[in-house]
Amino acid sequence: MTGRIPRYFIDDLLSRVDIVDLIDKHVPLKKAGANFVARCPFHTEKTPSFSVNRNKQFFHCFGCGASGNAIGFLMDFNHLDFIEAVEDLATFAGLEVPRETIETSGKHLKSEFVSDYYQLLEQVAAFYVQCLRTDEEGKKAISYLKSRGITDSLAKDFMIGFAPDEWRVLSSRFDQNQLVQAGMSIEKEGKVYDRFRGRLMFPIRDKRGRTVGFGGRVLNDTLPKYLNSPETSVFHKSKEVYGLYELLRKDSKPKRILVVEGYLDVIALAGNGIHYAVATLGTSTSLDHLELLFRFASELVLCFDGDSAGQKAAWRAVSSVFPALKAGRQIRIMVLPEQHDPDSLINKEGKELFDSRINNSQPLSEYFYEHFTKDLKLSEIENLSFLLGEAEEYLKKLPIGSFRELMVDKLSGLSNRHVLDRQAMLAYSLQVKKHRQKSNRLSVASSVLALLIQNPRLIALIEKKDIDWNYLDFEGIEKFRQILDVLLTKRPVNYGVLIEHYRDHPNETIIKKLATVEFPDENIEKLFLESINRLFVETNAALIDKLLEKSKKDGLSKSEKEDLVALLAKKHSDVIL
Ligand code: CTP
Ligand code: MN
Repeated sequence: MTGRIPRYFIDDLLSRVDIVDLIDKHVPLKKAGANFVARCPFHTEKTPSFSVNRNKQFFHCFGCGASGNAIGFLMDFNHLDFIEAVEDLATFAGLEVPRETIETSGKHLKSEFVSDYYQLLEQVAAFYVQCLRTDEEGKKAISYLKSRGITDSLAKDFMIGFAPDEWRVLSSRFDQNQLVQAGMSIEKEGKVYDRFRGRLMFPIRDKRGRTVGFGGRVLNDTLPKYLNSPETSVFHKSKEVYGLYELLRKDSKPKRILVVEGYLDVIALAGNGIHYAVATLGTSTSLDHLELLFRFASELVLCFDGDSAGQKAAWRAVSSVFPALKAGRQIRIMVLPEQHDPDSLINKEGKELFDSRINNSQPLSEYFYEHFTKDLKLSEIENLSFLLGEAEEYLKKLPIGSFRELMVDKLSGLSNRHVLDRQAMLAYSLQVKKHRQKSNRLSVASSVLALLIQNPRLIALIEKKDIDWNYLDFEGIEKFRQILDVLLTKRPVNYGVLIEHYRDHPNETIIKKLATVEFPDENIEKLFLESINRLFVETNAALIDKLLEKSKKDGLSKSEKEDLVALLAKKHSDVIL
């Protein structure tokens, strides 16, 4: 493995490039006031709502909510992972990416090691293919494949192989230590033997085509039916899917991707002309899976068996995929008839019927509300409040943006239609109103943060002042302090550099949201100082209220009285900073 890219380099890189030049190379931009605009490359639209800001070094689409810095743009636009995007951006800037040297503690973890695994697994996959084709036993495997309707060329596309039923076929050919590290051999009481024996072998390849692990199936009904590679430094089940590389080879920009459960489902679908299926690896669909797949297609169809286990799995998946849903991304849920998996169904019904099932699959929002309302009579108040309460728990997980709005609207529409009881209606509309007010009004603290985030240089205006931040008290103070701390210690030169420190951080969404708050172009400094002052004035007023309230109820202690006097004195001065 090569070492990590040092943090300083990423900050430096981001402060050198100009996001306007970078994006303009991919999506021609037009100047419009302080921003540059274009039709959004991440969703289909007629009028431009994609905007790029040079000062902030930030892009944002008001239509679909896509946003980020130069690295984020390359990741989204070119479907790159983080490292790939940094490397491309460095090339754009004419810089070489430095790497930190890796600590070599204990075992000699050489830097070539990971690439050695890839190479080894590649060679093993080729060896298994050779066994399938030439081994006496391989004949059995071939006739099994035939019995499952898998043709020769299909087997080649998926590089299907066979592991002979012996203990040391691999160990006698490849480096034992590496075999163990790569999960292909097992070491027990000083002896090393092959993990996969007498099995059909399905190599699992990452999106670039590197073999990272294997699934192995028995040729009969013995158990366990499948064995899979264990987690290794190159194989993570919750991050990889089966069939992605094969899919991308057929079509690098698929319209949709179908997510199924089994290796053989993917292969059977491909055999029947549906080349856009992938399978999770015996785990449920994770957020990482979705993020990976959404890099290549904007629509995912999650396919589940019709039995009750399948239904349960569908609901489990729905609730866990919520955080990945943004505008411009669509998820559909496809539940198969009972007794069928995609393999058996497509072989029975053929491609056309299967296609129409995909086209008729339910949008996630529909499936979601159907699940909640299936057994509920919404005319009863208790049921309505149950729906509101339960659904809201899920809706909270959605990223802020137009999809979330849509789901909230749907919820209110749904309850309005069913509710006959006026009281319940009233209670509900009040709740919605309160929610709306809360989300629309920008608190003083948020506007201070928004100003700071968008113009990190403003921090210089206040850091020399002797400000007692501990004095401040309001909702969200922890986030406020955390962000302030990053600004003071990391010294980002612009927003684009700042947001990089928040990649995958719990506060990332809020920071991105604050970056889109609009302020006048002039007199930012004055506005900023005034806002900070107001923050203190408001805290002051709140503290006074609290003490006055207490004095009415239980009276005040001596020190509380002194506090109150001090607070009141400050109040009259009106300028607290
Ligand atoms: N699986 C697993 N370990 C098992 C059983 C299943 O890892 N013991 C995973 C495999 O990735 C498998 C998927 O779960 O592909 C779905 O299981 P199943 O439907 O039983 O397998 P199929 O791929 O449909 O294989 P077959 O049609 O041969 O039964
Ligand atoms: Mn099956």
